[in-house]
Amino acid sequence: MAKDKSVKELEDLPGIGPTSAEKLRSSGYATIERVAASSPYELSELLGISAENAKKAVDAAKEATNIEVQTGADVLERRKAIGKISTGAAGFDELLGGGVETNGITEVYGRFASGKTQIGFQLAVNVQKSIDKGGLAGAVLFIDTEATFRPERIESIAKASGMNAKEVLDNIFVARATSTEQQILTAERADKLIREKNIKLVIVDSLMALFRSEFIGRGALNERQQKLNAHIHKLQRLADTYSLAVYITNQVMDNPGLLFGDPTTPVGGNVVAHAATTRLYIRKSKEEKRIIRLVDSPNMPEGETVIKITPDGIKD
Ligand SMILES: Nc1ncnc2c1ncn2[C@@H]1O[C@H](COP(=O)(O)OP(=O)(O)O)[C@@H](O)[C@H]1O
Ligand SMILES: [Mg+2]
Repeated sequence: MAKDKSVKELEDLPGIGPTSAEKLRSSGYATIERVAASSPYELSELLGISAENAKKAVDAAKEATNIEVQTGADVLERRKAIGKISTGAAGFDELLGGGVETNGITEVYGRFASGKTQIGFQLAVNVQKSIDKGGLAGAVLFIDTEATFRPERIESIAKASGMNAKEVLDNIFVARATSTEQQILTAERADKLIREKNIKLVIVDSLMALFRSEFIGRGALNERQQKLNAHIHKLQRLADTYSLAVYITNQVMDNPGLLFGDPTTPVGGNVVAHAATTRLYIRKSKEEKRIIRLVDSPNMPEGETVIKITPDGIKD
């Protein structure tokens, strides 16, 4: 694409005057590239302009941005730098191709008490280990929308790994969200904390609970999906910018239209389905056993593994 020579500054974008440009800069949208990478929706929210006008500005920014082309070998080289957090279970790690990856979003969906939060606890401990022990030597931002964060569980899991439980807890920054507004803002304002505390794992447990309870009925669906879309894109940007892993949990609903097979469907629709890099479905088996199915991955085949949820955490 030819670079549009007439657009150099934010003020050169259609509909962006000095005031809007200033607002953009102070909100972290300092470059044309940054505007090109944002959604018209977030821009219209930020500037208080219509979605159409915001789209015109974003389109012009895209037009003016050089497309960077990389060879497959470049991409391979960059992929080698991607970090992996061990789940603590060899079979589960294998299913994922080594563990939960940085620079992407890993989603686990399943019914109540299937173990989604427990996996989050295990990852919150494991990410703090050194790289040779399956971690990333980093800290955790835990966005808790269901009030189910349990420090006692972290203590048990950390102790079982021979770690100092107090130190492990000190490296988990818990943000309790009681509204989608809070949930969204926590992610929007996370950059500083992530840089200062070397956060390598962001957990959103659960992604959809508040969205589902706040936006009820068909009429609210459009607005819900727009807000959700902007929220997930922010999470993806955090993953890319800081080479961190994002772990989200998701609820399920029954799909009564399906006569054969498992009628359980994750909520959140296409917005979540398209945004999650890796999707996993967890379901209960006998006793403490759980079956985990890899539903979607850019580079691993579909498959299943069995884990156990024990007092000491996730095991094979
Ligand atoms: N201390 C523990 N020891 C063993 N298993 C536990 C312990 N705490 C929770 N669990 C298991 O985890 C389940 C809850 O999993 P959880 O991750 O909270 O579910 P959800 O998918 O709803 O997030 C419990 O039903 C229990 O089987
Ligand atoms: Mg839970």
